[in-house]
Amino acid sequence: MNPQHLPVQELSKSSSTKDLYVNKIRDGTVIDHISAGHALDVLRILEIHGGEGHIVSVAMNVPSKTTSKKDIVKVENRELRPGEADKIALITPGATINIIRDYEVAEKTRVKLPDVIKGIVKCANPACVSNAGEPVEPKFLVERQDPLRLRCFYCVRIMDKQDVLKQF
Ligand code: CTP
Ligand code: ZN
Repeated sequence: MNPQHLPVQELSKSSSTKDLYVNKIRDGTVIDHISAGHALDVLRILEIHGGEGHIVSVAMNVPSKTTSKKDIVKVENRELRPGEADKIALITPGATINIIRDYEVAEKTRVKLPDVIKGIVKCANPACVSNAGEPVEPKFLVERQDPLRLRCFYCVRIMDKQDVLKQF
């Protein structure tokens, strides 16, 4: 392609070409500050497997201002569905969700785990009442966010990030 015809990259005020690993997007969602190594888990949570047709960019292990390395996921023309931000918070509590509209960051939120989570993950204890086929919604107390420690409301089981990741 003739380089004169390459698309012009839009840069926001805070960005320089030096720290831009993937193009800015026009509309969609940027999940930023993902703990390094968890970008593929985030894609799995969003149920993005490649065949859905969204334009998706992923950067892994890029230098970050705050932590030493981070991952970034950019999904064009897709906003988050209810529950997805909580799942992301479970596996990468420092992530930020940026909603992009017409190249601008229209909304920025840092994911936050509530003190009690309901219905997002199942208890890993097969004998738990929440797994007994009764109408009992799984419920956990968030004892610690990072490293993750969840306590089942009904039984003695403690769950960590690996237990949760197996379910996503
Ligand atoms: N971004 C993008 N497309 C845009 C605007 C922003 O892909 N049109 C991305 C940026 O590359 C960045 C994230 O969205 O990964 C947040 O953008 P911005 O708030 O401008 O960056 P920072 O100020 O560095 O964000 P933070 O303070 O959250 O680190
Ligand atoms: Zn339980």
